[in-house]
Order: sequence, then structure tokens, then C-alpha cells
Amino acid sequence: MTSLNNCLSAIGVAMNEELTRLLPIASGPESRLQEAMRYSTLDGGKRLRPFFVLQTAQLFNVAEQSALRVAAAIELVHCYSLVHDDLPAMDDDDLRRGRPTCHKAFDEATAILAGDALLTKAFEVLAAPPTHSDPRVRADLVLALAEAAGDHGMVGGQMVDLRAAELEMDVAAVTRLQNLKTGCLFNFSCEAGAILGKAPAKLRQALRAYAHDVGLAFQIADDILDVEGDPDQVGKGLRKDAEAGKATFVSLLGIERARSQADMLWRQAAGHLDVFDEKADLLREAARFIVERKL
Ligand code: IPE
Ligand code: IPE
Ligand code: MG
Ligand code: MG
Ligand code: MG
Repeated sequence: MTSLNNCLSAIGVAMNEELTRLLPIASGPESRLQEAMRYSTLDGGKRLRPFFVLQTAQLFNVAEQSALRVAAAIELVHCYSLVHDDLPAMDDDDLRRGRPTCHKAFDEATAILAGDALLTKAFEVLAAPPTHSDPRVRADLVLALAEAAGDHGMVGGQMVDLRAAELEMDVAAVTRLQNLKTGCLFNFSCEAGAILGKAPAKLRQALRAYAHDVGLAFQIADDILDVEGDPDQVGKGLRKDAEAGKATFVSLLGIERARSQADMLWRQAAGHLDVFDEKADLLREAARFIVERKL
């Protein structure tokens, strides 16, 4: 596990550098917005989505600058989703990544604007020429991220999540919700390397299958952490799902079956990578880490 830990720490450093470059602070009164954008993106998080972009990109020998910019773009969308997810109108959380949430550190209106601007910035980064020399590849990335993040993806999932307590949700419905809410951004992260590397359809499909299972395993682990996690270690509000009356994998299956489902999924995810050689070893390790993580 240490090589994965080393890799995640190195990605943490690289992401901080890249995001710092992409989020300069202007001198006008809008600087408050930019302070909030940096506050919500720098120095925190596991950087799992950037990890997937960078690891899948290296399978196809993609130039580092391209991969880093796409990794930053997906992290910008992820951070925006967290800023808005924590707002009083949504999950109303005070703690994120071990610090006050954006609306607590700044104010609600600033947090809404910071989320808006982070989302927009992600597409600016993808569309800009330094991301790839081929404009077709840049357009493909923009399209894939738009599909993953919008009403048929993450935001759609957030809508279902808000209605989860009022709906009768069985395992199939919760699986669909989690695929939208969490899985779609994981899918983009894993497919991005293949898009950048113009990979053949078969390899792209293998990454999509890996992302699907890893995304679900990740969300089951998130649900288990919500029940069992140590709030100091996790760095965000816990015990929220039951309080909100939301059906989750844990509430539907119980802890033990949820755990064995996650265990089955990470093994299945790693199996989808059989078409790749040892260059995919960290992705294989990551599938297990995602299930066994404590934060
Ligand atoms: C948290 O995602 C939000 C969910 C999709 C459950 P992460 O657990 O990846 O959050 P960070 O980026 O490490 O803070
Ligand atoms: C948030 O899901 C997922 C997105 C932001 C898209 P949760 O509400 O379960 O995430 P946490 O538990 O607050 O990190
Ligand atoms: Mg939420
Ligand atoms: Mg939340
Ligand atoms: Mg959660």
C-alpha cells in the first residue's frame, strides 16, 4: 500500500501547484470570490479523481501537462459539488476536509458564487489549447465532463438524493442514485486518460467498467464511514444519512452485507484491468484502498 500512498501524496502536491496556477487572485473586489475558490480547492481532499486521470493517462503515455490540467479540471468540478452540497439548502454541513465549510468561512452567497466559478473554470481549463494540441480531443473532454456533471449525471444525482427520504428506495434505486451522484465523475476521471490518449474502444470500455465498480464501492464505503467513521479522521459531518432518513446501502443491506458487497466490487473492478499490464497496478491497488479507507 505504500506505493499508492506515496503516489497520492505526490498527486496532492502536484494538484496544489496546478490549482494555485489556475486560480490567481485579482486585485479588484472580486478577489473575495477567488479567495473562496482557493480555500475550497487547495490543501485538502484525497485527490482520488485526479489520481484516476493521471493513472489512466499514463497507460497511454499522455503528456504530463495534459493529464495534470484534466486532473485539475475534474477536481475543480468535484470541489464545486462539495461547496454546494454543504450549503444550508442542501446538507447544511459545517465541516469539510477538516475545516469550516466554504459558506462558514465566507458566507452563503460567496459560497454559491465560488461553486459557480469553479465549475466554469473547469471547462475553461479543458477547452484551452495547453490541454491538448488536438481541438477534437479538447471538445471530447468538454462533452464528456458536461455529460458527467449535469442533469444526467452528478447534479441529477444530487436532485434524487435530496428527494431520497420522501421516495421508496430499494437497492436498485440507491444504486442508480449513487451512480449518478458519485459514479459519473469517477467514470469521467477514468475515461479521461483514454480520451487524451485516443485509446481503442476496447481499452476505453475496460476503464469504464473499472470506474463503474470502483465508484459504487467508493459510495458504499462513504455510507459505511457515515455510520462508523471517526469524525476527527474523516474531517466532515457524519451520521447524517440516518438523521436525514435517507436510504443508503447500509440502511438497506446492513453493515456486514454492505461491506461484503464493497469487497466483491473492488475485486471485480481490479479484474476489469486484466487487459492492462503492470502499468495498471496502482489502479488495482486503489480499488482496494477505496473500500478499506478510514477517511
Ligand atoms: C466526498 O468525496 C463526496 C462524495 C462523493 C461522497 P471524497 O471522499 O472523494 O472527498 P475528498 O475529495 O477526499 O474530500
Ligand atoms: C455528495 O454526497 C456528493 C456530491 C457532492 C456530488 P454526500 O453528501 O454523501 O457527500 P459528503 O458525505 O457530504 O461528503
Ligand atoms: Mg449530499
Ligand atoms: Mg453531504
Ligand atoms: Mg456521504
